[in-house]
Amino acid sequence: MNVKSVSTESKVLGLSFSSCVMNASGALCTSFEELRSLDESYAGAIVSKSCSQMEREGNPKPRYFHNQDLSLNSMGLPNNGYSYYILSSQKLNRKPFIMSVAALDKIITYQILEVILQESTVSMVELNVSCPNLCHSNQVLGNHFEDLDNYFSVMSPLFQKYKMIGKPYGVKLPPYWEGYQFDVVSKLIQKYQFDFVTTLNSVPNCLVIDTETESPVIIPKNGIGGLGGKFVKPVTLSNIYQLRCRLPDVVIIGCGGIETGEDVFHHLLAGASLVQVGTELMKRGPSVFAKIESELKDIMIRKGYHHIGEFIGKMKLNVVNPMTY
Ligand code: DHB
Repeated sequence: MNVKSVSTESKVLGLSFSSCVMNASGALCTSFEELRSLDESYAGAIVSKSCSQMEREGNPKPRYFHNQDLSLNSMGLPNNGYSYYILSSQKLNRKPFIMSVAALDKIITYQILEVILQESTVSMVELNVSCPNLCHSNQVLGNHFEDLDNYFSVMSPLFQKYKMIGKPYGVKLPPYWEGYQFDVVSKLIQKYQFDFVTTLNSVPNCLVIDTETESPVIIPKNGIGGLGGKFVKPVTLSNIYQLRCRLPDVVIIGCGGIETGEDVFHHLLAGASLVQVGTELMKRGPSVFAKIESELKDIMIRKGYHHIGEFIGKMKLNVVNPMTY
């Protein structure tokens, strides 16, 4: 077996991804130049920065930090407005273009989704219900299931139109910690017939302090922000697995703590069909995709796999011998 006989491509959601690895929304995907670099990289798709109706400056800087273990951000949704990303999708269009839309005001989000519906160059929509950093808001929508149900119910007529024309729509979730949260959110995902879920957004309300300055490493919200990077990978694997168990027919996009091809391998074993890279992309730039791709292929060759479908969701549970209890 050699590198030519293994493939990390993925055909899901009616789309063809040359690689199962893409960027996470928020990482180097705000300007057109950044989006073009993603287009030219080994990433299998392009995800836009979560957008609002109008462009936004975001929170005061420094608002992003990383070290070898983690990242912390409180960006405050700096973006160029949804029309900019639609225009960008029209100018690129070499690989699937996923538009991330921030779930803010319901009526406005409805209008944005209505425009995207008509845009053939936007392959699918990721509705972000998990942004933790908006200074005027103390809540992450995805943690409040009644509000979330209400929010989705307003979007529901549009979701039906998406279904009718076959444009996939999904939701980006916050991390969940308890079994009942997975139960409730899974029921909502089924109720509104989401095609995919992206799990997970950064772990909200974290704080990192610098020893020398004795201050938080970022400025907004007194240093409180969303945690990403290596530290969140076990949380992500659990969220992927627990959603996989409850949502056998929904595509899962894993996001959290991917630095290497081995990390991708773990995400896929837990049940993700596609994965996203955030912090490591911020650290290394778009060349990270070629590196991760080649590391994943090395593992596949060593283990005799040709296609990722051979091991997606196939994590082997340990068999416990009841005699040893
Ligand atoms: C921002 C952060 C997020 O985690 C997110 O999902 C959307 C926006 C931000 O602060 O810009």
